[in-house]
Amino acid sequence: MSDDQNSSPIASEPSGFRRMAWRFGPLLVLGGAAAVVAVVGGVLIGLNPGVGIVLVVLTCVVAGALLTWRTRGAHRRAGVRPAAMAFVAAALLVFVAIQAVPYGRAHDNPPVTGEPQWASQRTRDLMVRACFGCHSNEVDWPWYSSIAPISWAVSAHVDEGREKINYSEFATRGGEYDHTVEVILDGSMPPAYYTRFGLHSEADLSDAERAELIAGLRATPGLSDGDGGSEGNDDRGNESEDGGEREEREDEREDD
Ligand code: HEC
Repeated sequence: MSDDQNSSPIASEPSGFRRMAWRFGPLLVLGGAAAVVAVVGGVLIGLNPGVGIVLVVLTCVVAGALLTWRTRGAHRRAGVRPAAMAFVAAALLVFVAIQAVPYGRAHDNPPVTGEPQWASQRTRDLMVRACFGCHSNEVDWPWYSSIAPISWAVSAHVDEGREKINYSEFATRGGEYDHTVEVILDGSMPPAYYTRFGLHSEADLSDAERAELIAGLRATPGLSDGDGGSEGNDDRGNESEDGGEREEREDEREDD
């Protein structure tokens, strides 16, 4: 507290608290910064922010242990640099260790048991591009889906997506299939993180493709609200002509 120390910056015997603060303080600051990065990055790629926080805390604990071990009996080596090095080393250790977690590596594609009666092959193609990455049994697992923690995020999206809706099990399994058109119109699907950073650019449909897809889905039984789903209705002559009539919904401007 009081300045009872002489002017030497390297005090011969700093107080226990100051020594602890000087050793672990930088670690806490680094950990805080990393937590912010983890949460923001997690939101951007669709990884649960809680997972990021847990990983950062784990890294801090390991770094603290490294620092204690590295600086035992040598408190002069405390400071920003050793803390930063310990943090990087800990992050690497944690990264390697989490690769051993089994979740996220199954990359399964169960058998296809029955798809909707797509209005046309084109409708199916567009659905494959935009939706099958999470709502089908034909998931194309990218290379980074083998690397934790990204693998956890990808697996969670597919697990959750299939649980809601699985177009490969349309015939055998329930789901909110009749929301298909709705979620495309309101822009909530595919999720924003799916096409961020130029990933899955094939799923980033153009306005024209989207209109085409919507028209096709409306002509496919069971995928839009109010569609009776009468079997085998392929009596829709020209679904491609008026495809562009529905632009994306602008917010309704009542008095403009
Ligand atoms: C990155 C994976 C992913 C992609 C690609 C994706 N979805 Fe989803 N979808 C999910 C997840 C996860 C959920 C459950 C959580 C939620 O509702 O946000 C979901 C939920 C849904 C639901 C049910 C939710 C509701 O509001 O009724 C529908 C319908 C749906 N998706 C349709 C689609 C369609 C259509 C496409 C393609 C245009 C698509 N999804 C693309 C992951 C995905």
